[in-house]
Amino acid sequence: MTVTIRPPKSCDKSAWQDLWRQYNAFYGRDGDTALSEAVINCTWARLLDPDEPVIGCFAEQDHDVVGLAHIVFHRNLIQIADTCYLQDLFTVPEARGGGVAQALIHAVGDLCQARGVSDIYWHTHRDNSAARTLYDRLATNTEFIVYRTHA
Ligand SMILES: CC(C)(COP(=O)(O)OP(=O)(O)OC[C@H]1O[C@@H](n2cnc3c(N)ncnc32)[C@H](O)[C@@H]1OP(=O)(O)O)[C@@H](O)C(=O)NCCC(=O)NCCS
Repeated sequence: MTVTIRPPKSCDKSAWQDLWRQYNAFYGRDGDTALSEAVINCTWARLLDPDEPVIGCFAEQDHDVVGLAHIVFHRNLIQIADTCYLQDLFTVPEARGGGVAQALIHAVGDLCQARGVSDIYWHTHRDNSAARTLYDRLATNTEFIVYRTHA
């Protein structure tokens, strides 16, 4: 089925929220640890704000939103142009294996090119084999590991 990639519109909030909830649940942010309404509303507002470094891409099939990508542009101290962090990528289970995520990653590439950004990176878990099969085809595994703490 054809996949169309487009930016979010204000009327998409409930479709986005449904996918965003499923994506967060995939990462264990569910029930007691689900994102608060304040965070959800703030993220949605940022996705719609053209002055924000945060950008959303929606994948549509047959008029339904079936996938999303969220990216964040940020400074990079070893170059003048910004870098693109692909923070979130999700396809609804019913649409998986049909090239939705691949189309979203290509659309992110186009968006970056249009802004003069050539550097795109993202993280995934080593055990996420579905994602890694796709990523190994489209990008290079840097072998870096991620540390995190709380301030
Ligand atoms: C990972 C994810 C985004 C892939 O989305 P998708 O739309 O199914 O991906 P695509 O159809 O573009 O996948 C293309 C390739 O990925 C691989 N792939 C996709 N789903 C797969 C699966 N369940 N098992 C193994 N490989 C899979 C295949 O190699 C496929 O290539 P093919 O067309 O040659 O078969 C989707 O499975 C998902 O949302 N998972 C839950 C959230 C998640 O893991 N997000 C990524 C976090 S980094």
